[in-house]
This record gives sequence, structure tokens and C-alpha cells, in this order.
Amino acid sequence: MHLVPIIFIAMGAISLVIAAPSTEAASANLPELNHCDHKLTKSNKYLDYPFWKKFFKHLVPFTSSARVKMQFFLFKRDFPDCGKELFPNDDETLERSGFDARHPTRIIIHGWMSQGKGSLNRDVKSAYLSLTKPKPNTQNNDDDARNEPHTEAPRYEDFNIIVCDWSKISSNVNYFGVADMVEDLGFLLAEFVRFLHMRAGLQFDDVYLIGHSLGAQIAGSAGKQIRPFRFNTIYALDPAGPKFREQSDEYRIDASDAHYVESIQTSIGLGFEEPVGHATFYPNYGKDQKKCYMYGCSHKRAHDYFAESINSTKGFWGIRCERISKKTWVLLDNDGEFRMGGEPSDPKNGTFYVKTYDKKPYAMGTKQALADASRQEERTTEVYH
Ligand SMILES: *[C@@H]1O[C@H](CO)[C@@H](O)[C@H](O)[C@H]1NC(C)=O
Ligand SMILES: *[C@@H]1O[C@H](CO)[C@@H](O)[C@H](O)[C@H]1NC(C)=O
Repeated sequence: MHLVPIIFIAMGAISLVIAAPSTEAASANLPELNHCDHKLTKSNKYLDYPFWKKFFKHLVPFTSSARVKMQFFLFKRDFPDCGKELFPNDDETLERSGFDARHPTRIIIHGWMSQGKGSLNRDVKSAYLSLTKPKPNTQNNDDDARNEPHTEAPRYEDFNIIVCDWSKISSNVNYFGVADMVEDLGFLLAEFVRFLHMRAGLQFDDVYLIGHSLGAQIAGSAGKQIRPFRFNTIYALDPAGPKFREQSDEYRIDASDAHYVESIQTSIGLGFEEPVGHATFYPNYGKDQKKCYMYGCSHKRAHDYFAESINSTKGFWGIRCERISKKTWVLLDNDGEFRMGGEPSDPKNGTFYVKTYDKKPYAMGTKQALADASRQEERTTEVYH
């Protein structure tokens, strides 16, 4: 990568970065068939040149005047790592892109200080596309595996996975300035989906939005602005709290933004404490997450859980709970278990507590399955002793 040396210089000399020619603009003009507009594979994210360029650009005039911008990249089974950029109102690019309204559409929106190539996009995108592959032969036929609840992941022919990149704005350290642009970003997203509806026959009911942090607020805003239509589902992954906590439903994500709004709340510093949407899951009581010591870790964990929930064979299962106060929770374990996240979404109402492991894979499966597994273990022990 010839860009790498530039970055090191850029770290030391901000002004040099600003003067650097825009390599993005140059590459955007190359509409070759196999041209990659947005590579989404694991890489050293600290060397994401475009992100840092935007980041430094914001530091100079502290209150940014960057025009509100959002880019859209399409990923499908046949090009899982190489996104194709779609442009609102550009029919020709859309036609060539491979977008197919017969496949479910899942739109991922990252958060503040996050970027188009972050792990949310990569993990969620990959998890969805993993459902499109033919299932490999299960090799572990031992007792353990046979006793898994095997909530069989449904197989899909394909998805339209759309990654929204609004890093031009999100890279501004001024959180409150960025939060002020949520409505505008929601508008851009709603307009884009409307374009897909009109030009490619997309049905709004085939669309899920998956937003993390401020991305969840953008999803909510898009849901409000797409009316009278409705998206099928919004998954709000630790929706951003600061600034939005104090506002009325009209200015933050709520249950009316889609047919079904499910929220996964994993931190109270950066997230929400109050329930959001139809169903709210509080993994590990939602305040902070296991083995999370760094600032922002619990907040990020929401999308780790969600990505895992999409293709997990065990799944995350919660029980109904009531939060009487910050410290007092009533767990109602006589009302069954409810699945958090997953594909497809499974509408329900209420607040739920879910327990996870402290490292990957986080999902514990149902309590019933856990109990069965340990009973089985005991029995096996008896036989062999
Ligand atoms: C889920 O998808 C991810 C990304 O493709 C993959 O790494 C992981 O192994 C998958 N998990 C299962 C249980 O199939
Ligand atoms: C949730 O509650 C709302 C309002 O009470 C109701 O309209 C909706 O059908 C319920 N959804 C489910 C999945 O129970």
C-alpha cells in the first residue's frame, strides 16, 4: 500500500494531510466491472487513511462545515468483501450493481467516531452473508453437539447488504455537533431507500436497519422520514444516549419508527438506560459488560452480540424482566424465553434480561438447553465411572 508512508507523515504534520490530494475522488471515477469501491476485510484499522484524513480535517476548523454526506455500498454473496457504491438517483450504477429486490435488504449504519470499514460493518455483513452459503457437513457428532438446541439458521439465497458510510461527519470529535446532524443523515438514508423502492422495486417490508450508537438514532430518524411506509425491523444496538435521553420520541428512536424495533442495550454511559422500541434486551443488566475494562468496550459489545446472534446456532435467549429501579430488577422466569437479535427478527414486546459468556462466542443458548446439557453431562459421567 503506497498510502502507508503518507499516514505516518500525516500523524506528525496535520497540515500535510489536508493538502494531500483526494485519492478517493480519483478512484470513484473508475466504474470498471470488478472495481472495488469499498473493501471490507480485516485490516489494521489504525491505518485507514481516508478515515484519519477526515478526522484531521475536522480538527482544524473545529466546528465542521462539511456538507452532510452519506455513502452507500452494496455487498452480496458473490462479492462479500468488495462493496459496490450505489448513488441516489443513479439508475445506471444501480442496474449494474447486482442489487436484487427479491433478496432481503439489510442496511448497516455505524456510529460516532466509527467508520465505514469498522468491525460492525464487517462482522454484521459477514454474518448475514454466511447464511447464504450451503451448510458444511457437521463434523462434531459428539453428544454435546447433538444436545444443542439447534435453532437451525435459515438459509437464504442471497441478501442485499448495504453499508452506510457517513464517516465524513462521524469523524468529527464534536459529538454534539454530530448529533445535530442525525435528522439530515436520516433524511439521506430515507431518500436512498425510496430510490431503491422506485427504481428497483424494493419493498419497505423487506428492509431491516441495523444501527449502532448514533447510527441507531439515524435509523430511527430514517424510519420517521420514510412514512407513510414502514421498515420491517430496526435493530438499535446500544442506541446513543447523550443528547437523546432528554428528548421526546419525536426526536429519537422509538417504536413507531418501524413495524418492529428491537434494542440491545449494553452500556449506560454512552447508551440508553430506559427501554427503547417494542423490545429491549439488557445483556448482563445492561450497565456494563463482562471483562470490559476499556472505555467504549461495553458500548461496542452490543454489535458483537448482534453479529453473533445472526448465525449463532445457540442464540441469545432472555427472560422477561421489570426494572423497578437502577438497582432492583424483577426477573420473571415463568414466561418462557425470548430470542435476542437473530435473523429473521422475531417480534415481541417488553424488556428482557439476557446472560452471556464473557468471551466469544458469547451466546449461551436457552436455559433449557443449558440444563439439558449439564444433565446429560452428569449421566455420561455416571456411565463412565
Ligand atoms: C458466523 O459468520 C461469521 C462471519 O462469516 C463466521 O466467522 C462465523 O464462524 C459464523 N458462525 C457460525 C456459528 O457459523
Ligand atoms: C406489542 O404491543 C403493541 C401495542 O400494545 C401491539 O400493537 C403489538 O401487536 C404488540 N406486538 C407483539 C409482537 O406482541
